[in-house]
Amino acid sequence: MFLSAAGCDEACSDRVVFAVGGAPSELEAWEELAADFTRETGIRVEILRRPADTDQQRQSLILALNAGLSHPDVFLMDVVWVSLFAESGWLEPLDGFDPGPFFQSVIETVDLHEGKLVALPVYMDGGVLYYRRDLLDRFGLRPPETWAELLKSSLRVQNVLREKNPDFYGFVWQGAQYEGLITNFLEFAGSEGGFLLRDGRILLDLPANRRALEYMRDLIRKYRVSPPSTYTEMREEQARLYFQQGDALYERNWPYAWSLHQSPGSPVRGKTGIRALPSPAGEEAVSTLGGWHIGVSRFSNVKPQAMAFVRYVTSSQGQKKMVLRLGWNPGRQDLYFDPEILAALPYLAELKDVFRQARPRPMVPYYPQISNIAQRQINSALAGHIDAGEALIRAEREIAALLIRYGKPARTEPGE
Ligand code: GLC
Repeated sequence: MFLSAAGCDEACSDRVVFAVGGAPSELEAWEELAADFTRETGIRVEILRRPADTDQQRQSLILALNAGLSHPDVFLMDVVWVSLFAESGWLEPLDGFDPGPFFQSVIETVDLHEGKLVALPVYMDGGVLYYRRDLLDRFGLRPPETWAELLKSSLRVQNVLREKNPDFYGFVWQGAQYEGLITNFLEFAGSEGGFLLRDGRILLDLPANRRALEYMRDLIRKYRVSPPSTYTEMREEQARLYFQQGDALYERNWPYAWSLHQSPGSPVRGKTGIRALPSPAGEEAVSTLGGWHIGVSRFSNVKPQAMAFVRYVTSSQGQKKMVLRLGWNPGRQDLYFDPEILAALPYLAELKDVFRQARPRPMVPYYPQISNIAQRQINSALAGHIDAGEALIRAEREIAALLIRYGKPARTEPGE
């Protein structure tokens, strides 16, 4: 499947096959970066376009790597699956690379495996709130600092705008059954004082988590400020497009949406603001740490060329190009002081602390399975099939059974 999707077989041995997913604009930017690399080095790169959904990307990579296929040679990995890939022995150590310029805490928790560097951060994500500045002005409102303000203003604005546009909703976010739902849930829960992992324990059935899940469900089912499609189809791109076509007042998304909202032809260009997510009483916002890391397959037949490509992508010059084009938060620390980048992305300095303090998900090889269990139960509570408390109890019970199968104590140290 991978071979035909790549459109190449053994004939590919003269080029580096790079698997990467994302919004169409991101894929175009990767094509351009790869072309620049080829011009400078003579090494050809074939981009294997994958879907934006992180779970789908992981599954397709696992198929190829489990089969020991030599392609793709290089790929991007979501921060939450680097540990699984490293533990499975699929990553070639990045010997000779200097992790110095990157965020040390990220390198230590994500990219080092048994003392060896196996990946490098290309960009870092943290959840943020986008708002329609023009609409808030029109209604004499300010950007919400608390979840209560977000709800109140959503109801007020949507009641009026729905007269002309029945599809208008106050707030869009990621509620479909996939990894993005967990990142959203952890932000709602975190701002209530809840969590999934604390002091080495994986827990879900907590009063704060329950309050958060009830609130998420109520946004859709009781207050109706989030569309019913929230739990059936809202992923990053669906939420981004909903807001971008002018049908929502607020959107929770990652920083990549900023440059797309501001792009020529976007109906919300010049009308969009960005800030930290709200919290219950205006205290510090909680944002989930996301991001994508680059690594080389242990099965690649063109490792030196693949390494050269990784070096290019993670260089100051390569990252700067992508940051300016896509509005990413770079994995390299030095770029946060680059005047050109700060001028192009004013929010980078403003939201620095949001990104710096973003909360990681558990960095364990079996995280995708923990997440799958939680996704299923949380999504079913949003759909109204099951009570929020019951969903969390069931998820916690299933996760405990999974950990026992892995021979792990229910109390699991992150990174164990
Ligand atoms: C973004 C984040 C990633 C997260 C995913 C969830 O791509 O960078 O870490 O898992 O969204 O959908």
